[in-house]
Amino acid sequence: MATLLIVHHTPSPNCQALFEAVVSGATDPEIEGVRVVRAPALSATASDVLAADGYLLGTPANLGYMSGALKHFFDQVYYPCLDATRGRPFGYWVHGGNDVTGAVRGIESITKGLDWRRTAEAVTVTGEPDKQDVERCWELGATVAAGLMG
Ligand SMILES: Cc1cc2nc3c(=O)[nH]c(=O)nc-3n(C[C@H](O)[C@H](O)[C@H](O)COP(=O)(O)O)c2cc1C
Repeated sequence: MATLLIVHHTPSPNCQALFEAVVSGATDPEIEGVRVVRAPALSATASDVLAADGYLLGTPANLGYMSGALKHFFDQVYYPCLDATRGRPFGYWVHGGNDVTGAVRGIESITKGLDWRRTAEAVTVTGEPDKQDVERCWELGATVAAGLMG
């Protein structure tokens, strides 16, 4: 069975709403044969990454970049996972107040370095998520998870 690892930093109700939508999409009953594992970014390890087949990453924008928590995750796993995870599929979402550009740039840059393959459009949301934002996050989760079906 394939494993989808969702690594997220979720510090607020608005971020929680997006996270829950992503999980809901990834765990849709129509997607079979994919185990979904959730890990807060501050506790996810290189072993978690090596044991998974694909990834979903979620973060708020903080001070013009991704959260320190998601950056910490990348700092921990980058070299231990570089050789073994090349080409693996991933997707991500970013929530911010008004400008998520730096967070997006950072995630794109690091995942390019890892040679991960983005298999769904990135979702960016500012302010209170509306119905469409939640639906886009659901689609993100479902798309990356469905890509891991055997
Ligand atoms: C220290 C700090 C820095 C932040 N920097 C940014 C930023 O650079 N860009 C942005 O769009 N939002 C920024 N935000 C807003 C957060 O992204 C936002 O609070 C977070 O996504 C949670 O959303 P919520 O407050 O609407 O629940 C910042 C928030 C904090 C606390």
